[in-house]
Amino acid sequence: MYAQKSAEQGPHRGSSFDSVNSEAKPLNNEVTFSKIDGNQDNRSISTGKTTSAEKCVATIIFSLRNEVGGLVKVLKLFQEKHVNLIHIESRKSKRRDSDFEIFVDCDTDNEQLKELTQQLRKHADIIEISPSETSAHPDDAFTAEEVRTWGMVFRELNKLYPSHACKEYLKNLPLLSKHCNYSEDNIPQLDDVSHFLKERTGFSIRPVAGYLSPRDFLAGLAFRVFHCTQYVRHSSNPLYTPEPDTCHELLGHVPLFAEPSFAEFSQEIGLASLGASDEAVQKLATCYFFTVEFGLCKQDGRLRAYGAGLLSSIGELKHALSGKACILPFDPMVTSNQKCMITTFQDAYFVSDSFEEAKNKMREFAKTIQRPFTVRYNPYTQSVDVLKDTNSINSMVKDIRHELDIVEDALNRLNA
Ligand SMILES: [Fe+2]
Repeated sequence: MYAQKSAEQGPHRGSSFDSVNSEAKPLNNEVTFSKIDGNQDNRSISTGKTTSAEKCVATIIFSLRNEVGGLVKVLKLFQEKHVNLIHIESRKSKRRDSDFEIFVDCDTDNEQLKELTQQLRKHADIIEISPSETSAHPDDAFTAEEVRTWGMVFRELNKLYPSHACKEYLKNLPLLSKHCNYSEDNIPQLDDVSHFLKERTGFSIRPVAGYLSPRDFLAGLAFRVFHCTQYVRHSSNPLYTPEPDTCHELLGHVPLFAEPSFAEFSQEIGLASLGASDEAVQKLATCYFFTVEFGLCKQDGRLRAYGAGLLSSIGELKHALSGKACILPFDPMVTSNQKCMITTFQDAYFVSDSFEEAKNKMREFAKTIQRPFTVRYNPYTQSVDVLKDTNSINSMVKDIRHELDIVEDALNRLNA
């Protein structure tokens, strides 16, 4: 969850977790929209895709929020959007035993489905959408209006980056322009961005359609998975969004996730959350908030921003580096108790000398978290090993010995 307001609207907030659905779903759970033809103002057809007007059977799974008459309101939306319900059932959640989910099949088209889901989000948490005629990795497209909104945000933020963004950000943004077609008149494809990140840092992007709990979101980071929203903020107010949107994810987060030291730092927070108590997860989530979302660093004697909440918000980016904001050294013991401001600028921002330093501090902080085991990310299997007995520890020792053998061999060759 995250939000922005323009400076004209007064102080703004920006909050944390970029979204959704605890069960990581592949791209084909997302709504597919056809590509924009540059010469047209409306959606057009991309070859082999379902067009915006073609009917398809879509499945939507959502959970209702705790409000009186929630289901009635949702069903009315289907009626108002003229979406024909084929099947509806409530079923026990596969994610949380205590919850129920609503499962619907409906006869619709892409345009209707998009409008419906935008409205549906106001009353329900969407868990899954699966149009029946989508590819495994849909080639998402955006309307001309959405591209214009993205362009305005892109243009205004790029004026500030040279004087406000950290050097890692400034180094990686041009690479994204080159490899993922970041530009004022094009919203990059998540698939392209995900492939790029995979090569740079091993991180991948997983699109989501709703909110993730802090525990689920942080767990994704442990596996080098960044959950990411896919919609563009409303065009009526391009400098503000009440939730993380594509501008926030792609302009705020992605350039830093292409930086190995930052990626490792982010993963460190995720690893610390595995098996931790709810209270500890909350503290880690707060650390995430004041670093990955609102973090500052000191470079060449000057403050620079690396937090995505700042790098995607013109108003708060200016404010944080204005000399008027309260700046404190990043210390997880202190930072984890700082109040996250949701609707205004933060009361304080936390500064680190480097991502390496921040990572080491997080590691030390993680050691103070009570849990019956420790974990490590295994890059060979791309999974997390739980170290809780002598066998698992011996296995890790073997790996370390193997690594040290390689180091010794390399040193011997250097000295030969
Ligand atoms: Fe974010």
